[in-house]
Amino acid sequence: MANYLGFDLGTSSLKVLIVDENQAPVATVSVPLSVERPHFGWSEQDPASWIAACREAMAKLKAENPHAVAAVHGIGLSGHMHGATILGAGDEVLRPCILWNDTRSAAEAHELDDEEGRWITGNIVFPGFTAPKLLWVQRFEPEIFAKVRRVLLPKDYLRLWLTGEAVSEMSDAAGTSWLDTAARSWSDRMLERTGLSREHMPSLVEGTEVSGKLRGELAAEWGMEPVVVAGGGGDNAASACGVGVVRPGTGFLSLGTSGVLFTASESYQPRPETAIHTFCHAIPRTWHQMGVTLSAAACVEWLSQLLKEKPGDLTGPLGDACEVPGRTMFLPYLSGERTPHNDADIRGVFVGLEASTDRAAMTRAVLEGVAFSMRDCLEAGGGVGTVKRLVAVGAGSRSAYWLDAMANALSCEIVLPASGDFGAALGAARLGMVAATGADPAEVMPEPPTARVFSPRPDMEAAFTEGYGHYRALYPALANWRRAGA
Ligand code: XUL
Repeated sequence: MANYLGFDLGTSSLKVLIVDENQAPVATVSVPLSVERPHFGWSEQDPASWIAACREAMAKLKAENPHAVAAVHGIGLSGHMHGATILGAGDEVLRPCILWNDTRSAAEAHELDDEEGRWITGNIVFPGFTAPKLLWVQRFEPEIFAKVRRVLLPKDYLRLWLTGEAVSEMSDAAGTSWLDTAARSWSDRMLERTGLSREHMPSLVEGTEVSGKLRGELAAEWGMEPVVVAGGGGDNAASACGVGVVRPGTGFLSLGTSGVLFTASESYQPRPETAIHTFCHAIPRTWHQMGVTLSAAACVEWLSQLLKEKPGDLTGPLGDACEVPGRTMFLPYLSGERTPHNDADIRGVFVGLEASTDRAAMTRAVLEGVAFSMRDCLEAGGGVGTVKRLVAVGAGSRSAYWLDAMANALSCEIVLPASGDFGAALGAARLGMVAATGADPAEVMPEPPTARVFSPRPDMEAAFTEGYGHYRALYPALANWRRAGA
């Protein structure tokens, strides 16, 4: 029996999944990770915590299921995108990793986000992307910038530790603002604009290709062979591989810490003016587009911490079928917003609070607010009717109420996969399988069986469209309030 292992370095946990050659799950373990927010708009993580989590997860897997670990023939990696892991001459970490939802480099992003930047990268240079972060370090931490030997994305730092190789792959590299996304190659010009060169970059492979082999020392510690490690993918491209979104026209809705509306495309079709992201897929010669809302399940997490209730205890009592949007509204901009506003400074708000507003009303407002922000992503990507069907992934897909609200807010079918692991960790394991066996990615990456389909209902769709109008009207008011110095 040959097993395949996927590492998914998420923002809130590192997950390891082992599947057998028929892709049935064999073992899984998750280790929590924390995020530091030392200043307004900052979001950082200590790369040492990723390695510690990886060691802890593998030790646990080995103790509980040594045969499953020993039978691993290939590894794939997935990770949260855009983070700047800054390394010095001996590959030592020079400062905490600046994460995807860190907006400190808004001014630097604005500077790089010109016609040239958009032409080369196919995207707005968002503050969360990697290149502006390095410009920020150059300006505000020059002593660190002077020592930079290389910059790695989070999962690629894990790869460096796992294999000893400094390698990235196209899907994550496309989120740096240093990639020529059409050519699938680093852009000397964009690197030069941040005081760097190709020398500071890892080499590039496709997500399905071999990037290196597991170091002998770790292989011995975990009772494994020094198996191949695939390029893997940024968490969104890897999730797409996990739910079989590899053919043009297919798509998924991810309700993780961030919210993502993702569609695969056969060619490079950038539309930066809409704040839609156009990135390489983890599959060769394939690209994808996505709208990103920075806080999705993060909003439910936030409310649950505030009310001291588990997220499921807040959403469960709402039932399975959504109601028409309530009188209380929530704008989910807890960390600023990307699609469609590209506004690092905007922050969230509840409106329409009244004496009778209770926990359920606030929970519904949060779920509806994120549904409306996903509608914003849909409108930016082409509008209602352009997407007919989306597979749901991420922690938020455990709430039937939320998925029903999404179907009605987006006027499209939302398909919930049968219970199981169909996210980025499976996508990573599938990429590991392709790299190890040379199998055809399309055959290795079918869509999972469906547990439930949420279909829009005309009366509810109309109510959500009306609610969306009210939601849209609130952003300009909120932006004005912020500009006025709030
Ligand atoms: C995508 C993005 C997030 C992160 C974290 O552009 O920033 O989805 O990958 O999950």
